[in-house]
Amino acid sequence: MDIETTEAAHAQILSEIIEGLSKKQKSLPSKLFYDENGSRLFDEICELEEYYPTRTELKIMSDNIEEIASYMGDECVLVELGSGSSIKIRLLIEHLQSLTAYVPVDISAEHLIKAAGCLKADYQDLVIYPLATDYTKDFSLPEIFGTCKTIGAFYPGSTIGNFTPNEAKTFLERISKTCGKGSGLLIGVDLKKDINILNAAYNDRQNVTAEFNLNILHHINSLFYSNIDPVNFKHHAFYNEKSGRIEMHLISTNKQVVNIEGHKFEFEKDETILTEYSYKYSPQDFAELVKGIYEIERIWVDENNLFSVQFLRAM
Ligand code: AVJ
Repeated sequence: MDIETTEAAHAQILSEIIEGLSKKQKSLPSKLFYDENGSRLFDEICELEEYYPTRTELKIMSDNIEEIASYMGDECVLVELGSGSSIKIRLLIEHLQSLTAYVPVDISAEHLIKAAGCLKADYQDLVIYPLATDYTKDFSLPEIFGTCKTIGAFYPGSTIGNFTPNEAKTFLERISKTCGKGSGLLIGVDLKKDINILNAAYNDRQNVTAEFNLNILHHINSLFYSNIDPVNFKHHAFYNEKSGRIEMHLISTNKQVVNIEGHKFEFEKDETILTEYSYKYSPQDFAELVKGIYEIERIWVDENNLFSVQFLRAM
């Protein structure tokens, strides 16, 4: 967690950890993956041969960037939900016509400042309004953009898959309200596909994903007074076909008691902590999900039907 983290946020995250570990199916919030080491490991995952989403999404975007830009519209206020340092946002910035402003929204102020600085170095005339807020909660855009004719949100990476379908719906409703009727949403959505491709993407041969998953425990130890020994847990990821999602778990290798800030959690041997869902959608599934919130205007997919980039219009 970064230097901007307040005491209140620290207490909030502890209460989320306690709540998750107190459930019958123990769980931890996926956002805990992303401390400095976790973000580095995620970048490494994106380079893995087995992990197709990042490179496939980028290829879809660069192959269709002119058309994507025309859907986003001229004089667009580009609102990016999360990150900000990636090559995908540069592709958009370079191709959108007379971009009004770029508004990266991220929970980490430190991350935002760094990413905005990098972009500013390459695009001196770009107007950047960083918004340090949790975009999964209610937020509003800077007031000066209230009257802009074109607002286009960008939510890449199939991060939408981390939500359950119900949560995803609530999230999309919120974004459509925040950006307004007629606003666009360019979103990356990972597709249902051969189970073996999915399982391989979350069980890479170099065990980077395993390290990424286990890092959540190191992160907790770094934030709180806790005695978790990551050696006592093993990475487990699998595609749950019935639910249409990848599930990542940490399996307790033995019976043990974990202590976090005086809270004790008992584990049976082979009991698991759920650390992440990554939902996969067929185009039909996703159309069903957005129904009544967004109109799907265009779907781009790669030649192997692995991933989709979709342009939605808020109703
Ligand atoms: C960043 C949430 C889209 O679900 O594929 C990668 C995270 N987890 N490998 C995903 C992730 C394991 C990733 N998202």
